[in-house]
Amino acid sequence: MSAPVLETENLVKVYGRGESRFDALKGLTFGIQQGESVAIVGKSGSGKSTLMHLLALLDEPTAGVVAMNGRPVSQLKPAQVSELRNDTFGFVFQQFFLNANQTVLENVILPLKIAGVGKAERKRRGMEVLEQLDMADKAGNRATDLSGGQKQRACIARALVNGPSVLFADEPTGNLDTATGEVVEDILFGLHRDRGITLVIVTHDDDLAARCQRRLLMQDGMIIADDSGEAVRSAGAGVGQPSRQGSRRVGGPGRHAAPVVVDGRGPDTGQGNDGNQGNDGNPEGQA
Ligand SMILES: Nc1ncnc2c1ncn2[C@@H]1O[C@H](COP(=O)(O)OP(=O)(O)O)[C@@H](O)[C@H]1O
Ligand SMILES: [Mg+2]
Repeated sequence: MSAPVLETENLVKVYGRGESRFDALKGLTFGIQQGESVAIVGKSGSGKSTLMHLLALLDEPTAGVVAMNGRPVSQLKPAQVSELRNDTFGFVFQQFFLNANQTVLENVILPLKIAGVGKAERKRRGMEVLEQLDMADKAGNRATDLSGGQKQRACIARALVNGPSVLFADEPTGNLDTATGEVVEDILFGLHRDRGITLVIVTHDDDLAARCQRRLLMQDGMIIADDSGEAVRSAGAGVGQPSRQGSRRVGGPGRHAAPVVVDGRGPDTGQGNDGNQGNDGNPEGQA
């Protein structure tokens, strides 16, 4: 089997220090295969978003390894990490993070603009994804003039415009009514089914989680259940043990490797593409 598209080893995230220290992730080791659909579930505060941001290379761990396609991200230069993220990942968030003063099309093509794609090509690709999401007639609308479901479809269009192979979604239906949420879910799982896009979905919604092939249940910064059948290795249980793949380690000799250094951008933009450098502007690598 090929290396997992994403893999962690003993992933640790600590917020704050001293009295305000909070151990948000306590040493997680698991992998996500290309083409899987994975739900990250658990109570509020259990570390779901923290984990997603680390997997998506939007934030850096305090310790431990994140590897993509078998390669620890810490071995890459910051510009390479940005490029990888831009080329490989799409992001959908509960709060939409659309620029209210721009049109739907302008919002959707932002990642292409940042990647340096020319104007005509941006428009062509932007309209293409909007058409795929039945949103072409809204291309010229201001983003504020959309319903919640339309906003989330615009966000999915923006997430897809660079041709990602992994789509991260943090509570993608959290701000939508049930019927609209189902439409958005259908779009996400359609992308998974038809294009083989890997889905990593943080959700409180049991029905949404049930549609995924696999659920990782988090509690207090640990994965306490993984119904893929993989042995759960979290926190104390797994630290210092051989990785579950045995022969293949991530992170080379340094099991407790130095924190992965990305380009210092936090997850607060809700987009993950803005400000990245080094994108080669080729979004055609659709899975
Ligand atoms: N930037 C931060 N600084 C300090 N604590 C944080 C920060 N981000 C998250 N936390 C804390 O880490 C824990 C996990 O947060 P989060 O990953 O957002 O949980 P979830 O998404 O499961 O609700 C929470 O207790 C939260 O308060
Ligand atoms: Mg969260």
